[in-house]
Amino acid sequence: MTDMNRSMRVAVQRWTIGVVVGVALLSAGTVQAQTERPPVLVQGAMTSETEHLVALLGSPKLEQVGNWSFWRGTIDGYPVIVSKTNKGMSNAAAATALAIELFHPVAIFNQGTAGGHDPDLHVYDIVIGTASLNVGAFRAMFRKRGDGSRPLEWVPLDLLADGSAISPNAPHRPARFDADAALLDVARRTRGSYSRGRVVDGIIGSSDMWIDELDRVAQFHSDFGTSVEEMETASAAQVASAMHVPFLGIRVLSDNITNASTYDAKA
Ligand code: 5AD
Repeated sequence: MTDMNRSMRVAVQRWTIGVVVGVALLSAGTVQAQTERPPVLVQGAMTSETEHLVALLGSPKLEQVGNWSFWRGTIDGYPVIVSKTNKGMSNAAAATALAIELFHPVAIFNQGTAGGHDPDLHVYDIVIGTASLNVGAFRAMFRKRGDGSRPLEWVPLDLLADGSAISPNAPHRPARFDADAALLDVARRTRGSYSRGRVVDGIIGSSDMWIDELDRVAQFHSDFGTSVEEMETASAAQVASAMHVPFLGIRVLSDNITNASTYDAKA
């Protein structure tokens, strides 16, 4: 991994900690004894997206469940769990469900890197996810053998909607998960502490795909309003929402195919 690549991952982890501390301060008033305070959960997909967080924890204790790692510790005296979810939608969902059952977090942050869909965004800019969308669920309508595949014509499916996903009346839009208003508020108020780029509100599109086709990216941006794409947030958000745990996604741009902003753009 290049130094550049690592430094943006550290930058978003460092900024997220400021938000976590802000949220911990909010929840601190509700429970008397410090040890009884419910923890804040911070997720990252890879070692490079969690190691800075783990290093900040006071006396971290590792708990391993299957392939998923959780570090219990404290930051400024507040209980924090750092979770390495591993990459992709299924891993993010499983790690989130496990963490909620094991640690009963008061709030969940999913942070990491993402690719820009908005040409105004550049590498190192941070997107605070006002909502996340599952942009990996589609129905490809019938085409006969030899007629090829046309992803631009695929119809989005909301797999959470009631009834048959393929009925003509099904809502043809991606499943959407709104950020928790209080977490969003703290994140917005923490904006000023970041100096590597801008911190903006945006919509995070998630799927098990990395798309560098400009027409597809432009379609997602115009049809669904995506600011960035990545592979975990909407999945973690779906589980958090089902379990009624406040959630916020935070992503730093590592790439933006729409304006050729790359790892080296600001090197
Ligand atoms: N498209 C998809 N995923 C991306 N990631 C960073 N940039 C992109 C992109 N343009 C993140 C994903 C995943 C890993 C491949 O990097 O969230 O964890």
